[in-house]
Amino acid sequence: MFCVRNVTKDLTWVGADDRRLAMFEGVYGVRDGVSYNSYLLLDDKTVLFDTVDRAVCDNFFENVAAVLNGRKLDYLVVQHMEPDHAACIQDIVLRHPEVQILCSGMTKTMLKQFFSFDVDARTTAMKEGDTLDTGHHTYTFVMAPMVHWPEVMMTYDTTDKILFSADAFGTFGALNGHLFNDEVDFMRDYLDEARRYYTNIVGKYGDQVQAILKKAAGLEIAMVCPLHGFVWRSHFGDFLEKYLRWSSYTPEEQGVIIAYASVYGNTENAANLLACRLAERGVPVKVFDTSVIPSSYVISDAFKYSHLVFASTTYNAGIFISMEELLHDIANHQLRNRKVAFLENGSWAPTSGQLMANIILPLKGMERIAPTISLKSSVKEDKAAEIDALADAIARDIKPAAAPVDTTAAVVENNAFFQLSYGLFVVTAKDGERDCGCIVNTAAQLTDTPKRMTITVNKANYTHDLILKSGVFNVSVLTEDAPFSLFQRFGFHSGRDTDKFAGWGEESRSVNGLRYLGAYTNAFFSCRVIEARDCGTHTLFIADVTEARVLGSAPSVTYAYYFAHIKPKPPVTAEKKKGFVCKICGYVYEGEELPEDFVCPLCKHGAADFEPL
Ligand code: FEO
Repeated sequence: MFCVRNVTKDLTWVGADDRRLAMFEGVYGVRDGVSYNSYLLLDDKTVLFDTVDRAVCDNFFENVAAVLNGRKLDYLVVQHMEPDHAACIQDIVLRHPEVQILCSGMTKTMLKQFFSFDVDARTTAMKEGDTLDTGHHTYTFVMAPMVHWPEVMMTYDTTDKILFSADAFGTFGALNGHLFNDEVDFMRDYLDEARRYYTNIVGKYGDQVQAILKKAAGLEIAMVCPLHGFVWRSHFGDFLEKYLRWSSYTPEEQGVIIAYASVYGNTENAANLLACRLAERGVPVKVFDTSVIPSSYVISDAFKYSHLVFASTTYNAGIFISMEELLHDIANHQLRNRKVAFLENGSWAPTSGQLMANIILPLKGMERIAPTISLKSSVKEDKAAEIDALADAIARDIKPAAAPVDTTAAVVENNAFFQLSYGLFVVTAKDGERDCGCIVNTAAQLTDTPKRMTITVNKANYTHDLILKSGVFNVSVLTEDAPFSLFQRFGFHSGRDTDKFAGWGEESRSVNGLRYLGAYTNAFFSCRVIEARDCGTHTLFIADVTEARVLGSAPSVTYAYYFAHIKPKPPVTAEKKKGFVCKICGYVYEGEELPEDFVCPLCKHGAADFEPL
């Protein structure tokens, strides 16, 4: 039975999913399958946009025949000659001898290389800006070389504002019936595979992708129809923003990947030590064993994160096999603009560090962030100290240092108040020598003359008690680049049994002696309490501002931004549990009913902030 979906009233998706393919292009594992998209227009003329892979051709031919419903096929537009889209062209010609093929000049040459039918007799080479009128639609052809092969052409429907984007804006993964991006949670469930698809397939050709994105910027786009993955009919700007980053080799996130190759676990131990030291400093970190994880996954995250650490044992006087393969793969994809560090191991002649550097450092914009750490067999005290130093260097580089302030005198800057929003803040206080802090969303300016602020703090927080006791506190205004780990550090633990500033560094204190964050913040305020009002679960503190400083220009994070972009979305579980999830921190309470007086053990918010799973 044919299996199609309508894209618009006269355009139909006639492609198919392939869930049996083990290795896409013979290289990339596709556990969740892949889709091969083809689109068929029924206007005064009929037009088929590309074909599919040989593996799904039976479905495809049935789909095309059903949609044509006896009409002849006037045109086949070939946008890309790679056989995952072009395998069925000769069969289409045999089934529809009247069909005319429209393609780029280079595609016409390739048609002759791949097939034996009379290409010249039925093929017209299009040039940039050439058009096709099908009755109610006018199509313009846009050349897109190297996205992903040199012959690639895209097609723009000037009538319905649809861009047929060839391989661009595709993703790995079968569609599973969902043709449109808004039928799934793309950013949660498919972005990682879209990144792996982009970075591995066209990651090398960022400059060419940038060129086509510039062309696309001049088009009004209502819908994007790629050759793999979902049709985009909403929120395309979110995906486009990712493409702009990937193609310009700009990291999506400040964070570290550690890729290691270890034969007997000692290099792995060093990688784990570094991961722990980074995590303690609030740095997002992801660790890969190159002997287990295929390169395509590591490459994808190397495009995502800002800092890369490679750790390899020395093997046959060289780099360990799986690491060498990964590094050459990264070099072949011409990744740029990353901060890198190396760790080598070897029991008698460690040499892998320099050899790894020789592959990675010549790439454009690669910058070594610390000297290579050289182990002899296993990590000893002195090397643990070097690993600490590497973690310090990376953490310093990743946490955007706030502008230095002269803290010998308290100054109240008017502009600091402009950074306040309905946002999220870290409130800090002190008990003797011990610093503490918690997250609040309740900092506001009360009056301008005198400069006064209010905050409300949950009584369950240790910081609350410290403010009551000491009468002073600081407020750091958080910025949009604050990672989720920062919210975990200050929001999901109690200062009674955790040192919230462990590994944070000692660099930022205001005149009143309290900590402010010094990273992920654009302003801080020092305040002296003049009144504390009991508000039930919380205390409202009214305070004079004794110091206010602008630390940067990054946008203040709002509550809405936190939920949309920082807080991880809960994973989809096959078996739906009964219970309630905290909307603030994600804590899950399992049970049929949530007690009215329940308080989240992580973030201390009450039952009103929970929703059913
Ligand atoms: Fe999906 Fe470049 O082929």
